[in-house]
Amino acid sequence: MQNVAQPYRSVLYIPGSKTRALEKAQSLPVDAIIFDLEDAVSPDEKIAARELLAQTLRDTDYGPRKCIVRVNGGDTQWGAEDLATFVEVAPDAILLPKVEDPKVVSDLAKRLKGNTTIWAMMETPRGILNAATIAAAPKVEGFVMGTNDLAKDLGSRGRDAMRTSLQMCLLAARAEGLVCVDGVYNAFKDEDGLRVECEEGRDMGFDGKTLIHPAQIGTANTVFAPSEDDLDLARRQVAAFEQAKAEGQGVAVVDGKIVENLHVETATRLLAKANAINLLEGA
Ligand code: COA
Ligand code: MG
Repeated sequence: MQNVAQPYRSVLYIPGSKTRALEKAQSLPVDAIIFDLEDAVSPDEKIAARELLAQTLRDTDYGPRKCIVRVNGGDTQWGAEDLATFVEVAPDAILLPKVEDPKVVSDLAKRLKGNTTIWAMMETPRGILNAATIAAAPKVEGFVMGTNDLAKDLGSRGRDAMRTSLQMCLLAARAEGLVCVDGVYNAFKDEDGLRVECEEGRDMGFDGKTLIHPAQIGTANTVFAPSEDDLDLARRQVAAFEQAKAEGQGVAVVDGKIVENLHVETATRLLAKANAINLLEGA
């Protein structure tokens, strides 16, 4: 279901209750926004935030940024009304928190209007264990790793302890062709730490990173975009393979390394991603 032409390098959470941040997001260079009604909004602000966000999404043009709304869970007093409201508003996607069972997804899938898709927060032990069936549920387009909640439930500390869970979700997402974005980096003033974690997430296979502060956007956009070196190699691989094919060979060699059809597929995907980023950034 993943549209390779849509980058998800930077996915910024914005509290649905903060007017200033909702406004500011119109000009931030993010690929997607998660408008949050769940953990970023306090209980006494929940109802006002729902109304503010619904009105804002009806009235505001967020341009090419994908608009994703994170609702409260179905086990809370706000969940049902959040869903009823945003099924009507029909953003690009509705993000369900703490998904553990594909049934909550298929129930929502039946009610969606327009082109709205479903994204799932993967952030509880049971959710991670059910990742494959959740990824296969109807209208699911993406997974968001909720690493803070997961660490809380696991009683774990640090990134190393997350690795199995992250990889299980990546496997499930890729098996179904979904987008998969990494969890947040809490120390939002620590740029070096963010870069290291973005690079690690990129190398694992994530499409991008969820962010909590505008200062984190540039790093995520850079790390999750193909580098000039990557693109140069990809172009040379495609050209060398074309030439080999013309000469009746099934394999080419670039920089002393074998290039087969599968490498050309990866190279072509990388070039398409770079094109999509250029289009998005108006380059
Ligand atoms: N999205 C859009 N704009 C944001 C933003 C966000 N997530 N976080 C901060 N900003 C804006 C502020 O409105 C401020 O704008 P202004 O200077 O033009 O008025 C500017 O960025 C600088 O903000 P700053 O003062 O550095 O941050 P803060 O102290 O106000 O807020 C946080 C820090 C962490 C509380 C805030 O970034 C935040 O709420 N992040 C989202 C948290 C969240 O959604 N959590 C749930 C998922 S983990
Ligand atoms: Mg959470």
